[in-house]
Amino acid sequence: MESRAKVAGHAVHPMLIVFPLGLLATAVVFDIIHLVSGDIRWAEVAYYLIGAGVVGGLAAAVPGWIDWFAIPQGTRAKRIGLIHGVGNTVVLVLFVLSWLLRRENPGVPPTEAVVAGLAGGGLAAITGWLGGELVERLGVGVDDGAHLDAPSSLSELPAGAERGVVSRSAMPSRYQGVERRAFPQPAYAGVERRSRGAH
Ligand code: HEM
Repeated sequence: MESRAKVAGHAVHPMLIVFPLGLLATAVVFDIIHLVSGDIRWAEVAYYLIGAGVVGGLAAAVPGWIDWFAIPQGTRAKRIGLIHGVGNTVVLVLFVLSWLLRRENPGVPPTEAVVAGLAGGGLAAITGWLGGELVERLGVGVDDGAHLDAPSSLSELPAGAERGVVSRSAMPSRYQGVERRAFPQPAYAGVERRSRGAH
C-alpha cells in the first residue's frame, strides 16, 4: 500500500524516524553510562538528546498519521498501525516527562527521570518492531506492484511497470497514481517471471 506522505518518491515517515530512534536511544545509553561512571557530562548530553529526540518524534508522527489514515478499515494493518502510533505517542510523553524532570539540573537527573527514559526506550523497542511489521509483513508504505526490477521512484511510472509487464507506451504520459490500480502487479512478479523463464 503506497505511502501518502512522500518526498522524491519515497515515504517521509521512515526518513524522519531515524531522529527520535537514534537520539532517544542514545540518551538512554548515556544515562546508563552516567549512572555507572558518575560523570555528569553524560547526563547533560542526554538532556539535550532527549529534547532533540522529542522534536524529531513529533515531526515523524505527522506523516505517520497521514499514512495510517489511508490504511483501509478492518485490516490487521489498521490495528497494528494504531497500536504503533498510540504506543509511540506514549513513548514521546515518557521522554517529555523525563526531560521536564531533569530541566532544573540536567547533570544530576532524579531517578524518576532516568526510569521514564528507560521505560520509553523499552516501549520504543516494541513499537519499533510493530513499525517493521507494518512495512515488511503488511506492506504499508510499499508501492503497489513493487518488484525486484521496478523502475525508479523518480520515473513517474508505477512500480509495476516493467518491460513486458506494463509497457511504457501503455502508460499515460504522466503517471498520477490511478494507473497503479489499473495495472496491479504482485510484489514477486519479476522473480516469478524469471523462474518461469520469461524475459
Ligand atoms: C517517535 C515516533 C515514531 C517512531 C520512532 C516510529 C517508527 C517506525 C518504524 C521503525 C517504522 C518502520 C519503518 C520501516 O521499516 O521502513 C514505522 C512505520 C510506520 N509508522 Fe511509525 N513511528 C513513529 C510514530 C508513528 C505514528 C504516530 C504513527 C501513526 C499511526 C505511525 C505510523 C506508521 C506507519 C503507517 C508506518 C508504515 C510505513 C509508512 O507508512 O511510512 N508512526 N514507524
